Amino acid sequence: MTAGAAQAVCIEPATVLRGDVSVPGDKSISHRALLIGALAEGESEIRGFGGSADTLTTASALRTLGVTVEVDGERARVAGVGLHGLRVSSAPIDCGNAGTLMRLLAGILAGQPTAAQLTGDASLSRRPLERIAEPLRQMGATVKTTDGHAPMAIEGGALQPIRYVLPVASAQVKSCVLLAGLFATSGPTEVVEPLPTRDHTERLLRSSGARVAAGAGAVRIWPAGSLGPQSLDVPGDFSSAAPFLAATVLVPGSELRVHGVGVNPTRIGFIHVLERMGARISSFNRRVVAGEPVADLEITAGELTATSIEAAEVATLIDELPLFALVATRAHGTSTVSGAEELRVKESDRIETTTEAVRAVGGKISHTRDGFSVRGMSRRLRGGRVDARGDHRIAMVGALAGLASRGGVTVEGAHWVTVSYPGFFEAIESLRTT
Ligand code: S3P
Repeated sequence: MTAGAAQAVCIEPATVLRGDVSVPGDKSISHRALLIGALAEGESEIRGFGGSADTLTTASALRTLGVTVEVDGERARVAGVGLHGLRVSSAPIDCGNAGTLMRLLAGILAGQPTAAQLTGDASLSRRPLERIAEPLRQMGATVKTTDGHAPMAIEGGALQPIRYVLPVASAQVKSCVLLAGLFATSGPTEVVEPLPTRDHTERLLRSSGARVAAGAGAVRIWPAGSLGPQSLDVPGDFSSAAPFLAATVLVPGSELRVHGVGVNPTRIGFIHVLERMGARISSFNRRVVAGEPVADLEITAGELTATSIEAAEVATLIDELPLFALVATRAHGTSTVSGAEELRVKESDRIETTTEAVRAVGGKISHTRDGFSVRGMSRRLRGGRVDARGDHRIAMVGALAGLASRGGVTVEGAHWVTVSYPGFFEAIESLRTT
């Protein structure tokens, strides 16, 4: 994304929001479906693909590696080249803004007997890479980071299985090691998690034929001879549904239904938190799609009460914590988040940028080293200007603050929403009833 494309969008206050919405396919699963599809033997078809700047970057990274990937709206096809068929060249592989791509692809490249270089945009180049470099080195790959960051050089080869205790609860690090484990000389490679994180990699690898076992806080994977292609429907992204849940509780009298949302238990902490605060959320049409639980969600606003989120819950709503801060501005009492230092290494330092955004619209928030504390108010937020600071989720916080405000909000850098949800602004505008 270039500075030249920067946009400011003004979001007017909403009286009430009503209606139905469907969200793009899950970003985490879409990345994984492309990457794992590329390693399969045969063509994978991905329906409900979440096309966004991030996932399209994964498609182009794979093309750089000699994989044919076609994306046509919500349908993607990947012509898998097998576990050993990637064509790694000396040209750097650009991971753009996508942390998931860089971390997962590194695990795959560690298993290739060639040297590769990974680069990213300014935001991705500030995010930590030693967390993946360290276990990959233990497995036998040569990994060089630039002071712990991108650009990163990986020289892969014969990998040893390891038992790796994750120092941080991170699905990206877990997935990186599991993908490398596919290429190990023997098995199992084991990843021990301090707390459960999203398990989409495990589910997809299993349905591609890999031997993966999970239990008692650890996941084990065995080397694979080959992977089978997928024909899958990607569920709606819970993290793209979450802004609509937040908007409903922020604009009194609102009622929304979000259809076909992935409700994997490792992702839906925000539902539990909103319910604890007093929102009414019902799920209908529960089904299993591509090995993932899916439902339609209906949410109705109610009086909100403050709540606290601690480390044990953080991974289940890591990407929703900026939204939580905004929701907490309208709850009775003081809400707190602790044990969430991971927020500092997301697309922006989300402890800092969330605090800045909530303050900019009149909310009362103060930050700590590992979280923040928000004092609720009975009246609507004042409104103002929110700078996305290069972060899609902060741009969304600004937009919702506009709906819930007295005076509207101008979101600077609104174009960043395209990282995960290109049609976001049109979708929220379609829900106004007046
Ligand atoms: C993701 C995992 C999370 C999340 C990110 C997507 C994934 O990061 O914040 O948006 O697809 O695995 P961590 O696993 O590093 O916490």
